[in-house]
Amino acid sequence: MQLTKDGKLKHFLTIEGLPPLLLEEILDRAQQFISLPNKSQVQAPILRGKTVMNLFFENSTRTRTTFELAAKRLSADLINLDIRNSATTKGESLLDTIRTIEAMGCDMFVVRHSSSGAAHFIARYCAPHISVLNAGDGRHAHPTQAMLDMLTIRQHKGDFTPLKVAIVGDIKHSRVARSQIHALTTLCAGEIRLVAPKTLMPFGIEDMGVNVYNDIEEGIKGVDVIIMLRLQHERMNTALLPSVREYYARYGLTEERLSLAKADAIVMHPGPVNRGVEIDSRVADGPQSVILQQVSNGIAVRMAVMSMVIGSHAQGTGDANVS
Ligand code: NCD
Repeated sequence: MQLTKDGKLKHFLTIEGLPPLLLEEILDRAQQFISLPNKSQVQAPILRGKTVMNLFFENSTRTRTTFELAAKRLSADLINLDIRNSATTKGESLLDTIRTIEAMGCDMFVVRHSSSGAAHFIARYCAPHISVLNAGDGRHAHPTQAMLDMLTIRQHKGDFTPLKVAIVGDIKHSRVARSQIHALTTLCAGEIRLVAPKTLMPFGIEDMGVNVYNDIEEGIKGVDVIIMLRLQHERMNTALLPSVREYYARYGLTEERLSLAKADAIVMHPGPVNRGVEIDSRVADGPQSVILQQVSNGIAVRMAVMSMVIGSHAQGTGDANVS
């Protein structure tokens, strides 16, 4: 559903099932955008005359803003639909809202929704000339986040094949972790470790080809990359933890624990960061942290994905050439 008949990216809904070459193309394009001279001023004309709608049914700071900057740097017209004041809150169905926005004329929807599958649903029923980019759906997927994480890892480590990567925290409620696992697997990462208390580890997750740890000290020993995740209280419907303080005591990334990883290990976090809950401030702001680089890479990765989907449009003006 995401690819055209000739294998081009039409929608970006999930990493699952995408070929490695396509993921590499996203990373290569993103890296090219980063290398453009004077990048804050350059506006590539790839999306000139195109309209992008940001449809965020759930809160977001960095994802929404970096999608917005990416669209503007590609010369698109961008509308941030204020969904809290939209007619969906007056009982209009999602599909009716989508039809109404379509009638205003647009080329791309960037969708964030608390329900898993929302972006797929919109992609299935929207007009055929529209591309849908998933900016996070429920606990299911967050593909552009995973790709900006892959870009950050590649910038520091190069080849994925020898790497040991630990993803630590609330795996159960994390769409980011799911997309990262698919991306790391597709890019042939050496070992993926998941570290969480039993209550935050999804049942049967080993089937995704990962190694499971309930002890952070064992889980991060000798790794090249540590990805910390936030406790997603808004997606927990029962008490899964004794207390936040106990969680930090058992799973918080402190300087002492970080010293168990490789000396040149990098520390990542998709944000928002809860200091003193999953990570010590000294680590979040320390020399091994690449958290802010992840944010900057988000712009380039979203530019890459937007340029690729517009290139798949039959009448697209963009030849997606960034030079
Ligand atoms: C993540 C999300 O919304 O899924 N954040 C993000 O997009 N930068 C992770 C989170 O909310 O903890």
